[in-house]
Amino acid sequence: MLDPCTFVVFGATGNLARIKLLPAIYHLEEAGRIPDGSSIIGFSRRDFSNSQWHEQVKKILEEKARGGLKQDVFKRLCQRLHMVSGEMTDKTSLQSITDYIEQNKLSKNLIFYMAIPPTEYSRVSQAIADAGLHKEEHGWRRLVIEKPFGYDTESAQILNAKLHEHFNEKQIFRIDHYLGKAMVQNVLVFRFANLMLEPLWNRNYIDHVQITHSESFGIGNRAAFYDGVGAMRDMIQSHLLQMLTLVAMEPPANLDAESLRDEKVKVLKSIRPIAKRAVNAHAFRAQYSTGTIENENVPGYLEEEGVPRHSTTETYAALKLYIDNWRWKNVPFYLRTGKRMAQNSSVVSIRFKHPPQQLFRQTQIEKIKPNWIILGIQPQECMRIEIQVKQPGLELLTHTTSLDASYCTHADYQLDAYEALLLDIIENDRSLFLRYDEISWAWDVVDPIIKQWDSERDFIHTYPAGSWGPSEVNKLFDRDDHYWRNAIDQSEDESS
Ligand code: BG6
Repeated sequence: MLDPCTFVVFGATGNLARIKLLPAIYHLEEAGRIPDGSSIIGFSRRDFSNSQWHEQVKKILEEKARGGLKQDVFKRLCQRLHMVSGEMTDKTSLQSITDYIEQNKLSKNLIFYMAIPPTEYSRVSQAIADAGLHKEEHGWRRLVIEKPFGYDTESAQILNAKLHEHFNEKQIFRIDHYLGKAMVQNVLVFRFANLMLEPLWNRNYIDHVQITHSESFGIGNRAAFYDGVGAMRDMIQSHLLQMLTLVAMEPPANLDAESLRDEKVKVLKSIRPIAKRAVNAHAFRAQYSTGTIENENVPGYLEEEGVPRHSTTETYAALKLYIDNWRWKNVPFYLRTGKRMAQNSSVVSIRFKHPPQQLFRQTQIEKIKPNWIILGIQPQECMRIEIQVKQPGLELLTHTTSLDASYCTHADYQLDAYEALLLDIIENDRSLFLRYDEISWAWDVVDPIIKQWDSERDFIHTYPAGSWGPSEVNKLFDRDDHYWRNAIDQSEDESS
């Protein structure tokens, strides 16, 4: 039996709450996974009554509920939804949460969810403490922090120290929502539940690894957050490095939170540091210019609302890393991400080496293609091993076919990452949340690059919206036969 709890959502009328949290809470309600006696308090600057908030939530859910809004589920949910208005950095406003909880006899196990701009995390955690809300006298306390956790190594350290003034490590849940994605978790199952992969999963057989997250949408209305942050901080320091750790880590002793996180930290610690003079050989940045997406002309980054006209913030970043350990020494890991690219796609592509002997040299087979393992994270969830087979017919010719363990989930079972993560917070399972040392090591990896880029503000490469990014990025490749794998299906790449 899980304890009942009260979620206090700071920023309850903001973007994250609207797009992710409220739909996730609704779906958990639908699945009967919210413990009896639990409530959600939306805390917002706006002066909303409960019923006004319910109306607003209804509108959101009409758009976001899978399979349409179910009235009975919504009715149940409304009984849990409360609104308290006030200023989130003001002690007196926060004390009104205690009064509200007392008056309405809500659970005193409190989860504080910071769905607010990262610049406010310190001040709000201080206000929580000033209002005495952090004390675990009549129930437990948990604090949920969204990424980005700091904007470089030093600021992350300062923020962490600040949070630790009032909360201990066991109370802090640092979110990287990528870890809540079913296919990201499946990387672990794929690797460690299938014996036949392990002997191949190392530098003797793997030529290189690519991790791509591309988006066709632009920055939308997020200029205030995004400008000055850029793709390296927004995506690579967090989501892509997390994926890299799952692909590269050693099997953990068991699946408990600490064992898993210990192994991830070992990977991050083993990443070869990038010297200042080597930044350009390891990292590349660019910005989208006007272009066409789905036959529509779209503006370039500099034309987006709220972006300064001379901004050199990168909307595309690529990075080459080496992991200096026994398993991965000298295997390049290429990471890239971009906004306004040709497709929405997150994929891990692992290329194997060529067979040592060119047995087919004297035949019509010009060159044997190497094997690939493709792990499609989103939107297409798949696990695919590409192998070479003989083409039917009299000639000795090969073609690529794939062993497809496609994991296309039925729409009914498709979960959003936030559903899994909110449930883990309620259940006090921290395995899919970040420990501070993971964040700090990840900042150490990208810090030299962002420092260098921050100091070079007069030029940035561009790429047309709707493309796969600038070709100049190919200078990162170690070898001439390395290329970006854009499509899950290789033949689409070849024809493009
Ligand atoms: C967020 C970034 O963390 O992840 C966004 O701030 C990005 O810029 C988003 O668009 C991608 O996540 P998802 O789950 O939508 O692919």
